[in-house]
Amino acid sequence: MGDPSGGVIRVLGFAGSLRRASYNRALLAAVVEAAPADLAITVFDLAPVPLYNGDVEAQGDPPGVAAFKAAIAAADAVLIATPEYNHGVPGVTKNAIDWASRPPGRAVLDRKPVAIMGASPGITGSARGQSQLRQAFEFTNSYAMPQPELLVFRAHEKFDADGRLTDEATRTHLGRFLAAFAAWVRRVRD
Ligand SMILES: Cc1cc2nc3c(=O)[nH]c(=O)nc-3n(C[C@H](O)[C@H](O)[C@H](O)COP(=O)(O)O)c2cc1C
Repeated sequence: MGDPSGGVIRVLGFAGSLRRASYNRALLAAVVEAAPADLAITVFDLAPVPLYNGDVEAQGDPPGVAAFKAAIAAADAVLIATPEYNHGVPGVTKNAIDWASRPPGRAVLDRKPVAIMGASPGITGSARGQSQLRQAFEFTNSYAMPQPELLVFRAHEKFDADGRLTDEATRTHLGRFLAAFAAWVRRVRD
C-alpha cells in the first residue's frame, strides 16, 4: 500500500465493457485526463479475464486473472466504469468482481475503497446497474463510496466520435466526483 493519508493515491480503473468504442471505456479515459495530481490512475483492460470457473481456479488463476488481482492488490483503491444491461450489472463487470472476490476473507477487494460510475445512451445513465453492483461490495467487504454518483446519461451526446468527453457539465461533475473519491479513500483507508 502507498500512503493514502497524504501523498498520491494509486487507483486501478477498469471498464465493464470490451467494446472498442465503449462509452464506459471513454469515461475512464476522461478520468485519466482529468485526474487531480493526487490520484494516479492505471487502467486495466478486462479482455484477458476469462469467465469464472471454479475448476480452472482450483488449478491456479489464469494469467489474466492473476494480473488483474495483482493490479488491484497494488492499488490503494478501485474505480469502475460500468454499463447497465437489462437493468442490471453486465456479465463483464460482475465476472471481474467475482474473480477478484476470491478467496473470500483474503481477497484483494477486502477493505478496498471503491468508486462506481457509468455511462449509457439511456436516460438513467446506468443507475440500476450501478446500484446492483454496489450490492456485491457488501459481500466482498469493500468500501464503496456512497455519494456522489456519476451517471452519464444520453452518453451519445456527451462524447465525440473519438470518444472524448466533450460535455462541459459532465466534465465538471467528473472533477467533483474524483475529488470526493480522493477524500473518501483517505477517510476509509485502514
Ligand atoms: C444486452 C444489452 C442490454 C442493455 N440494457 C440496457 C439497460 O438496461 N439500460 C440502459 O441504459 N442501457 C442498456 N443497454 C444499452 C447500453 O447502455 C449501451 O449499449 C452502452 O453503450 C453499453 O456501454 P458501452 O458503451 O460502455 O459498451 C443494453 C445493451 C445491451 C447490449
